[in-house]
Amino acid sequence: MKEKLGARNALYPLVTTIVGTVVDGKPDFATIAHVGIAHLNGITLGMGRVHLTNEGIKANRTFSVSLPSEDMVELTDHIGMVSGRKEDKSGLFEVFYGELDTAPMIAGCKVTMECRLIEHVELPTHDLFVGEVVGTYANVEVLTNGAVDIAKLKPLLFDMSSRKYWSLGEPVAKCWSVGKDFDAKE
Ligand SMILES: Cc1cc2nc3c(=O)[nH]c(=O)nc-3n(C[C@H](O)[C@H](O)[C@H](O)COP(=O)(O)O)c2cc1C
Repeated sequence: MKEKLGARNALYPLVTTIVGTVVDGKPDFATIAHVGIAHLNGITLGMGRVHLTNEGIKANRTFSVSLPSEDMVELTDHIGMVSGRKEDKSGLFEVFYGELDTAPMIAGCKVTMECRLIEHVELPTHDLFVGEVVGTYANVEVLTNGAVDIAKLKPLLFDMSSRKYWSLGEPVAKCWSVGKDFDAKE
């Protein structure tokens, strides 16, 4: 039997990211878990309009998306609780820049992407940003055959129900493959 929970978004877990931008000439960062993939190179961000980071993204039309690993959980949580309006977060990370000079990427995150804003939708309380990945940078120790290996990266998964960060589990099966064995009659 199912219990109706009301209109509650149940689309968790989501990967926890740190979004970076430049505001008044300094990097600012926000922890953002409401991220999605619009198309293979397209990233969506759902960000409350009150955040300082939003101002930088709108002004520069660029942002970075970095993936903190489990060992960065305390710092990740901290920057998700304190606004750049109250605390200067620019010194918390060593940053580097790629092709875009207003998308500060976090050196301490093993995978990070610089993005160009291609679409901005104003929702009642939130900005929906759609970005196109311009460049992706990864530490060699999290790569397997030249691709990011999530088992090595150990990303932080975010769950709203438990309000906890979770780890990845084990792989279940190969995509575009295991379904070939499906038999509707079984
Ligand atoms: C785990 C976690 C996930 C978060 N995800 C989001 C999110 O998806 N969207 C959002 O608007 N804020 C999210 N936040 C809140 C922002 O990170 C937070 O308000 C931050 O202080 C904004 O900083 P800023 O004002 O310097 O931009 C999250 C916070 C935490 C701790």
